[in-house]
Amino acid sequence: MQEELARLQATALADLAAVADAPALEAWRVKYLGRKGALANAMKVLATLPREARPAYGQAANQVKAALEAAFLERQEALQRLALEAELTAGAVDVTLPGRSPALGRLHITTQTLRQIYTIFAEMGFQVYDAPDVETDEYNFGLLNMPPYHPARDMWDTFWVSQDGGGQVEAAQPPGPTTEGSSLLVMRTHTSPGQIRVMRERYPEPIRVILPGKCYRYEQITARSEHQFYQVEGLAVGRRIRMSDLIGVLQEFARRMYGAKRRLRVRGSYFPFTEPSIEADIDCILCAGAGCPVCKHTGWLEIAGAGMVHPVVLRNGGYDPDVYSGFAFGLGVERPAMLKYRIGDIRLFYGNDLRFLRQFA
Ligand code: DAH
Repeated sequence: MQEELARLQATALADLAAVADAPALEAWRVKYLGRKGALANAMKVLATLPREARPAYGQAANQVKAALEAAFLERQEALQRLALEAELTAGAVDVTLPGRSPALGRLHITTQTLRQIYTIFAEMGFQVYDAPDVETDEYNFGLLNMPPYHPARDMWDTFWVSQDGGGQVEAAQPPGPTTEGSSLLVMRTHTSPGQIRVMRERYPEPIRVILPGKCYRYEQITARSEHQFYQVEGLAVGRRIRMSDLIGVLQEFARRMYGAKRRLRVRGSYFPFTEPSIEADIDCILCAGAGCPVCKHTGWLEIAGAGMVHPVVLRNGGYDPDVYSGFAFGLGVERPAMLKYRIGDIRLFYGNDLRFLRQFA
């Protein structure tokens, strides 16, 4: 009888050696160790044996069972190990390959310059304020003391636009005798219309803001002029604000931006929205005033148009000019950066040539 058990064990182990995967292993377990499996059947024989033969048979059967169970566990573990190894080789990562470095974005030279400007003015207590790129004729000109047909409008060559039914902006004809100027839209020609927006929003609080943004001019593109460029507008409104405050702020800005030794000079000028108006120059950052090709041998570089906010503009912003006064200025962004880095062509700024842009990373 025990020989039969021994044969069962031998066949089972031989079968087990041929088992190659988890389903086959499970089938093997059911076949030999299951409730109706071969070993269970062999156990049933026990009851048919003479009483004296039973203990020996029972013992032998239990040994077979233990041996098969141990073999089962061992095989199961071996199969799992094989499966894991197969998985690892299939999805293998070659850790000796040199890594691919991701392309890093960098800040555009204009962004860097703008951020320097923000920092300097923030330290002087100026907040940054955003105003729209598409403006009404009224904000861009009218409220800045240039009603339709005012000759000073010629200082800004303008992209006229209108809105189609869907609200999209499209090119439009400049105002003529039949079109009422102030209903038209423009791509702002300067950041100054933002002055009116800030004043109308802040009245009657004192104001100290800068308004950075893109400006658009209907101009020939050349090495010296683009039809899109940045300006940073400045505006301070309050009681007893004076020209000396303006000059002090511009002076401080010039020194932080272009070097502690910079000198500032102001010249009388004309803008419709300031009275009096000035233009501010710094001594040339390359030759310090001695004269060189960059400053065209004048020793000076222009950095801003500025002035005391015109009473009409203050009133248009809601501030009574008999109570309040203010100063305003408009700084270029690309031109000064061109001077600082000796960039000879403004078209490089927005030409998307990475060889140029990477130099300022
Ligand atoms: N908006 C002027 C321009 O684009 C620059 C300017 C001049 C701005 C004088 C000002 C200012 O705020 O006071 O030419």
